[in-house]
Amino acid sequence: MKAKITATARYLPERILTNFDLEKMVDTTDDWIRSRTGIETRHLVSEGEATSDMGTHIVRQLLERSGKKASEIDLILVATSTPDYPVVSTAALIQDKIKAENAWGFDIVAACTGFVYAMETGAKMIESGKYKNVVVIGADTMSSIIDYTDRNTCIIFGDGGGGVLLEPSDNDEGILDSILHTDGSGSQYLTVQAGGSLHPASKDTLEKKMHYIYQDGKKVFKFAVKRMAEVSKAILDKNGLHGDDVSLFIPHQANRRIIDATAKRCGLHKDQVFVNINRYGNTTAGTIPIAIDEAVELNRLAEGDLLLLAAFGGGFTWGSMLIRWGAIS
Ligand code: UT7
Repeated sequence: MKAKITATARYLPERILTNFDLEKMVDTTDDWIRSRTGIETRHLVSEGEATSDMGTHIVRQLLERSGKKASEIDLILVATSTPDYPVVSTAALIQDKIKAENAWGFDIVAACTGFVYAMETGAKMIESGKYKNVVVIGADTMSSIIDYTDRNTCIIFGDGGGGVLLEPSDNDEGILDSILHTDGSGSQYLTVQAGGSLHPASKDTLEKKMHYIYQDGKKVFKFAVKRMAEVSKAILDKNGLHGDDVSLFIPHQANRRIIDATAKRCGLHKDQVFVNINRYGNTTAGTIPIAIDEAVELNRLAEGDLLLLAAFGGGFTWGSMLIRWGAIS
């Protein structure tokens, strides 16, 4: 038995931050941001709006589209690095907001690879035969950990999320394979240093701005291109497939140049690659499920199509997933 996607959804908060807005906040230009990252706008939550609110919108949309009741959900998995609270999972908050009385759930922290990790977890739960309706969400409120005076990070990230409903599949449609990796020796290159057990929140950590995301952009860039291409090629080779067999490639949207370089190394043409980074920036665990939902809306996925996902992120974490697309509601 396999797990297949039977409904998709996304949520982007209303507020929009443009490159021109950022020009007024830090020493940067629209031209620099566009040419170095491909980003033009990103969405931001409003005051009082958090990751569980985005997740709740997403699950409500999934229920509406699939015609299921909240009580039918067995499991809620939330990939996020920006939970509402350090203690109490985002999954628990969503479970309560939608009154999914028969569901249990938990969060998965794997930065930008989080959604692929969560999809693998959800798929294995379905394959066990014990769970029938698994909601997998990828959502991040990156604005909650961004220093809007740091031009190295504030131009890249945005808020948003997406999700899918996974159900059992008894034919060849569904999640076919995945390859996932972790290498914690890269943890210092993309991290939030304070607010955890090593550096609990204190006046000192606040003064040193340790609650904001730090990244060594160049290191992460090199790692991303190498690993995303490697793991995408590896999953195709493992399944006896070539670039031409891929109907749609949805890579993590971190930087347009990373996406283009990865596609080139994998021998994929422009029209096989889904790109929306120009509108949303990098929404961390949100980029892939947002793109899947948009691809459905734009009729870029048909029954029988082969969908390739690839992601990389802090940790370091990276991975790929192959999906035979099926009918969705
Ligand atoms: O999901 C994983 C998350 N992270 C990523 O995927 C990030 C991966 N890294 C990147 O996307 C890129 O490294 C960045 C977009 C962060 C930076 O682009 P870059 O082409 O690697 O720029 P750079 O760091 O090599 O900087 C080039 C120049 C520097 O000036 P000098 O030393 O050449 O005079 C920087 O100070 O550009 C300068 N610079 C900027 N200028 C205007 C750096 N950031 C900015 C900025 N606006 N925002």
